[in-house]
Amino acid sequence: MLGGLAPELTLHPIGFIRTHKQVKFQARHQPAEIEAERNVLELLPGANYEQALQDLTGFSRVWLVWWFHRNTDWRPRVMPPRGPARRRGVFATRSPHRPNPLGLTPVQLIKVEGRKLILGPCDLVDGTPVFDIKPYIPAYDAFPGESAGWIAQVDAALAVPPEFTVAFAPLAEKQAEWLQAGWQIDFRPRLVELLARDPSPHRTRRITRRDDREFLIGCGAWRAGFTVAENAVTVEVIEPGYPQRFLNDPAKRNGLPDRDAQLAFLELWPERA
Ligand SMILES: C[S@@+](CC[C@H](N)C(=O)[O-])C[C@H]1O[C@@H](n2cnc3c(N)ncnc32)[C@H](O)[C@@H]1O
Repeated sequence: MLGGLAPELTLHPIGFIRTHKQVKFQARHQPAEIEAERNVLELLPGANYEQALQDLTGFSRVWLVWWFHRNTDWRPRVMPPRGPARRRGVFATRSPHRPNPLGLTPVQLIKVEGRKLILGPCDLVDGTPVFDIKPYIPAYDAFPGESAGWIAQVDAALAVPPEFTVAFAPLAEKQAEWLQAGWQIDFRPRLVELLARDPSPHRTRRITRRDDREFLIGCGAWRAGFTVAENAVTVEVIEPGYPQRFLNDPAKRNGLPDRDAQLAFLELWPERA
């Protein structure tokens, strides 16, 4: 026992969120308030949660307390995706890689319908377990004058317009259109956002050098090859993130995100030799 408390506590999700983001790459680092996005948090039946939601109507925003269920590890120092490639203590970041991977997001509450909450933009991937909902109370929860340490410095540096333009070569454009039309997979906005800021190799941004000419950026289950000339980035090609032998391997293929889409993609655009 630790100070009278059990060293382990058990939490049970009250529900799971349904969002359009299947992979972590698609989710913002914090909710992008300008996006007209609708997400649904459906609370579990049989637990009287309908009653627990009483009186929440009228609050325009709620806090969600949730679990980074797709993570299995934590690190004392992490490399945040924004700003210079520099590690920071995890407790000075909002990184998902925490000893207790609890997420905290203030999100717009559009409507309560029975056990369902219709919510605005959020940074949770589809299926994320949610532990608690609390009303956001501006008089208690907002302290706009406080200092934000290293994040304020990074924000000030990012306030200047992006340094790079990002264009799609005809092949990459065709591939991206095909993915969106047939599979509702579209990572172009996030790709442009990341590459316009800084296309240089970076571990957390998952950018590596492929060869003398091209770089690669990981986009969830996919990746994109791009070139850089002066301040112009050109996305040249899109590729599945997994090799074909992996996608077909009975021991590995189950649960691979976007597997069907990747196999169909490879029929049209076979793997490079
Ligand atoms: C930087 S964290 C911030 C989360 C929360 N607003 C907070 O401050 O605690 C947001 C990122 O977590 C990742 N993410 C979202 N849902 C997740 C989940 N269920 N498991 C693991 N990672 C997740 C996505 O990559 C998203 O961009």
